[in-house]
Amino acid sequence: MCGILAYLGKEPALPILLEGLRRLEYRGYDSSGLAVMEDAEVLCRRAPGKIRVLEDRLADAEWQGSAGIAHTRWATHGKPSEINAHPHSDCRERIFVVHNGIIENHQALKEQLQQRGHQFKSETDTEVLAHLIEEYHQEGLLQAVKEALLAVQGTYGIAVLSADHPGKVVIAAKGSPLILGIGEKGIWAASDVCALVSHTREVVYLHDDDLVLVDSEGYQISNLHSQDISRPKRTIDWEIRDAEKQGYPHFMLKEIHEQPQAVRNAMRGRLLQAEGIPKLGGLTDVWKQMVDMERLFIVSCGTSYYAGLLGRYIIEESTDIAVEVDLASEFRYRKLNFKEGTAVLAISQSGETADTLVAIREARRKGALILGLVNVVGSSIARETDAGVYNHAGPEVGVASTKSFISQLTILYLIALSLARHQTPSLSERQSFLRELISIPDKIQQILDGAAHIQSIARRFSQYRNFLYLGRKFNYPIALEGALKLKEISYLHSEAYAAGEMKHGPIALIDEDFPSVCLAPRDSSYEKMLSNIQEIKARNGPVVAVGTEGDRELPKICDEVIEVPATHEILLPLLTTVPMQLLAYYIAEERGCEIDQPRNLAKSVTVE
Ligand code: F6R
Repeated sequence: MCGILAYLGKEPALPILLEGLRRLEYRGYDSSGLAVMEDAEVLCRRAPGKIRVLEDRLADAEWQGSAGIAHTRWATHGKPSEINAHPHSDCRERIFVVHNGIIENHQALKEQLQQRGHQFKSETDTEVLAHLIEEYHQEGLLQAVKEALLAVQGTYGIAVLSADHPGKVVIAAKGSPLILGIGEKGIWAASDVCALVSHTREVVYLHDDDLVLVDSEGYQISNLHSQDISRPKRTIDWEIRDAEKQGYPHFMLKEIHEQPQAVRNAMRGRLLQAEGIPKLGGLTDVWKQMVDMERLFIVSCGTSYYAGLLGRYIIEESTDIAVEVDLASEFRYRKLNFKEGTAVLAISQSGETADTLVAIREARRKGALILGLVNVVGSSIARETDAGVYNHAGPEVGVASTKSFISQLTILYLIALSLARHQTPSLSERQSFLRELISIPDKIQQILDGAAHIQSIARRFSQYRNFLYLGRKFNYPIALEGALKLKEISYLHSEAYAAGEMKHGPIALIDEDFPSVCLAPRDSSYEKMLSNIQEIKARNGPVVAVGTEGDRELPKICDEVIEVPATHEILLPLLTTVPMQLLAYYIAEERGCEIDQPRNLAKSVTVE
C-alpha cells in the first residue's frame, strides 16, 4: 500500500525513479510524485491518477540531479488529489518526504505545529513529518529525521531529501517494508525489490526502527538511539523478466499461466519420494513442537484466508490436530488462552499485511509458536515468525492473487502430509499421494490449454450483474476464492456459499438472471452437488459447472461445463481453482476493466 523509492548515485535520478515507480504502481495508483535534488534545490512534481499522468507532466523536465525520492499512493488520509500526493514538504519547501504507513498521532502533532506557526497544505498524515523535520533541520538531516520520528506514533517507510543537505537521502522504516539495493551506480531504497532488480540484485532488508543515511560514501544504518546497526547483504534469486509481462496483456494472466511452475517451485527440493514424505527445511528447528501440536490456528486475509480454510480441511483430514481458521483482522477480538501445544500459522503472499502482523504479535504475546507461509522473502511476517516456509512463487504483481494461492495450497498439502506421516498413512499411500502431487503441474497446464473455452463462456455470461458460487468440502474454499476473484476485478456482485447452505436462504435469489458457478468434480460430494444444481435449474437459474473430464451427467443439466482432469479428491482444489481464475479474468476483460489494478485495491495492505 503506497510504494516508495529513493535513489542516490552517479546517474540522473529522474528516469530511474520513473522506471521504479512503474514497477511499484501495483502498490497504489491514485496519485504519484517525485522530487530530485538539482543544484542545491529540490524540484518536485506530483500528479493525480496513474503514473502515466506524472510522466506526461515531466515530459519537458531535463533534470540531471542524481538524488531523488518518489511515491505512488493508495489514499488513507485525504482524497486522491494532486495536493495530497507525495512528496510532502515543509513550510519553506526545502524538505521533501515520501511515506508509506500511517502516522496515528498526526492530528495532535499537526495542531501543535500549527500553533508554532507551521502552514499545512495537504490533508495527509505524512505532512507532519516534513514540518517536524523542519523544526530540527539545523541539527543535520539524520538527526532531524530522528527527532521527528521520536515524536510520531504509527508506521512508516520514509525517504527524505533536503535542499539544506544536498548529497544525502535519509531512509527509515517501522512497520512498512523497505529494502536497500546496493549497486555499482548507486544506492536505492524501495518498498519492493521489483523496483531495484533491474539495477542490482544485492539487497539489504531493513528492520523496524532502522534509520539509514545514504550519501556519496555509501550507506550507514543506525537506530533511533544512535546505535550503529549491521544488516546482512543478500542476493535476490530472481530476475527482472520475472516482474515483467512477457507478452501477456496483463500480469494476472501471466501469473495464472505461471501456476504449473509455481507448484513445481513450491515442491522443489522438498520431496523425499522414497520415504514418501516432504522435507520442509524451514520448519526443522520447530518440528518437534509441531509433531506434538494439538491445536493450530491459521490466520490470514482475503485469498490467503481461503487457502487457510482449505488448510483446515486437509490437515484435519490427515491428522488429529484441531485446526481453526481466523480472519486475521478478527483474531485479536477473540479471548483465547493458548495452552502448550498451540501454534499459529500466518499465511501471507506479501508478508506485510498489517492485520496478519497484528494477529501474530497478539499470538506471540500469548505464548503460541508462530509459523509463517510467506512468498516475499525478508518481509515483516517472515521476520516475525519462529519458523516458516517460503512459497518461492516469484513476484506476484497483479493485484488479484493467483499463483501465490496455488502455491500456498501446495505447501499446505506438504505440511499436512509431513504431519500425517506420524499418524495413519502407509508408505505406499504417501508415495502415491506424492506421485499425484507431482503430476498436478501438467494437469494445470491441460486446463490452461483449454482457456479459449472458458473465454467463450465468459463472453456469454459477462452481462449478468450477480453470481452465486457454490462448492462443498474441499471445493468450498475454492468457491469463495472464485467469487472473490470475480468481484475484485470485474466489480460484479458475486457471493459464495457452501452448497449445502443454499437451501437455507440464498436459493431465494435464484432466477433466470442470477447464474451460479458450481464446483462439481467427481468426488465424495458429487451426488449432493448434482442435487443442488437440479434445484437451481428447477428455478431457471443458469449454471456453469466445473466437473471432472468425461462427466456425462453435468452437460445434461448445466448450461456450460468446464472440465478438469481427474485427480485424488483432496488435490482437486489445485485444479478447480484455475477455471475460477480464468472465468473471472475473461469476464473482467469482456467488461473492459483495469484487471491488474482494480479500483480501490492495493497489492499489499499495510493498514488495519
Ligand atoms: C485477493 C487478494 C487479497 C489478498 C489479501 C492478503 O486477490 O490478493 O485478498 O489475498 O489482501 O494479502 P497477503 O496474502 O499478502 O497477506
